[in-house]
Amino acid sequence: MHTTIGIIGGGPAGLLLARLLHTSGIDCVVLESRDRAYVEQRQRAGVLEQATVDALRGSGAGKRLEREALVHEGIELRFDHRAHRLDLTGLTGGRRVWIYAQTEVVKDLIALQLDDGPPLHFEARAHAVEGADTDHPAIRFTHAGREQTLTCDYVVGCDGFHGVARSAVPPGAQRTYERSYPYSWFGILADVAPSCDELIYAHSPRGFALHSMRSSTVSRLYLQVPNGTDPQEWSDEQIWDELDTRFAVDGDWRLRRGPITAKAVLPLRSSVTEPMRHGRLFLAGDAAHIVPPTGAKGLNLAATDAIVLARAFAHLQDTGSTELLDAYSDTCLRRAWRAEHFSYFMTTTLHTGPTQTDFDTRLQLSQLDRIAASPHAAAELAENYTGLPLA
Ligand code: PHB
Repeated sequence: MHTTIGIIGGGPAGLLLARLLHTSGIDCVVLESRDRAYVEQRQRAGVLEQATVDALRGSGAGKRLEREALVHEGIELRFDHRAHRLDLTGLTGGRRVWIYAQTEVVKDLIALQLDDGPPLHFEARAHAVEGADTDHPAIRFTHAGREQTLTCDYVVGCDGFHGVARSAVPPGAQRTYERSYPYSWFGILADVAPSCDELIYAHSPRGFALHSMRSSTVSRLYLQVPNGTDPQEWSDEQIWDELDTRFAVDGDWRLRRGPITAKAVLPLRSSVTEPMRHGRLFLAGDAAHIVPPTGAKGLNLAATDAIVLARAFAHLQDTGSTELLDAYSDTCLRRAWRAEHFSYFMTTTLHTGPTQTDFDTRLQLSQLDRIAASPHAAAELAENYTGLPLA
């Protein structure tokens, strides 16, 4: 089996890249180790930037998004029992964000791809990338109980931090910069109308809380919890009580409660692998970088990797020049580090660390106060949150 671009991983980066290549007439094959049901129910973030939405539309996968996504023009910050709205659109000269779950993005891309190509194989587990530094790289994988080889002109690893693509790069040829955080997020889905029109990011002495949503009838909420927390330790009532306490604000706001349909704890980490290329192997999405979810950047970074890479392959096809491919790693790393800084800033400004002193808390409140008081400080947050323009 041979293809021009072999893509490992059928998450947002791999699927979007495949669609964008397909629209440029470049053939590719996607190998996904899990089955379709697993990939389609994996709960992830839900905030899309303009560039991500544009790419989904351009790839033909924007129709349901167009109908169902909630368009948001602001977010709320809560701290010190005060609520402060950030007018994202006003602060950025017109930018907005779309609330549409990653699982829905993935479902739309899969449906389109199975209908219209290029090939997407589920339960196709890649176990090696060979010859990345030659002109004939290959992916060895197992599918339907058979060992197979896909030879490619290029391989793109969109298979996450623990994927085979990252590990195919010799240790001396890459460097990973990492940071872990001393807290996790406890995320729930609840069958209840959101208690707000826009997302609420809350700082509280008991820790961070986030109110997000999936639709007009489904709420998505998160609580900061200690690392290693077992979600089963928390009763539904305890979860709602804790959310109530952390969102508490002067005035009459009430958190609506409803049946909790999913509970999961996720750790927070930051990581960047440099460079995002080794020979004819390119890394994209979580295989190259991970951000804590506080800035809502993970899916959008994965999407921009796919966009930049698709343009570079199209440029190679049209002109024979590898100029854009050669710039891929630098282009995406510059963007990734900006997102890393923003996500780190949002995380450390809003969470309460286990060794946090009152001095640290005063610094956080001063920073939040500054954002609430100064359009300049607010604009810096708003520009990063809505996504910096893709050159
Ligand atoms: C979500 O809806 O899951 C979500 C929203 C905003 C974030 C993180 C997660 O910053």
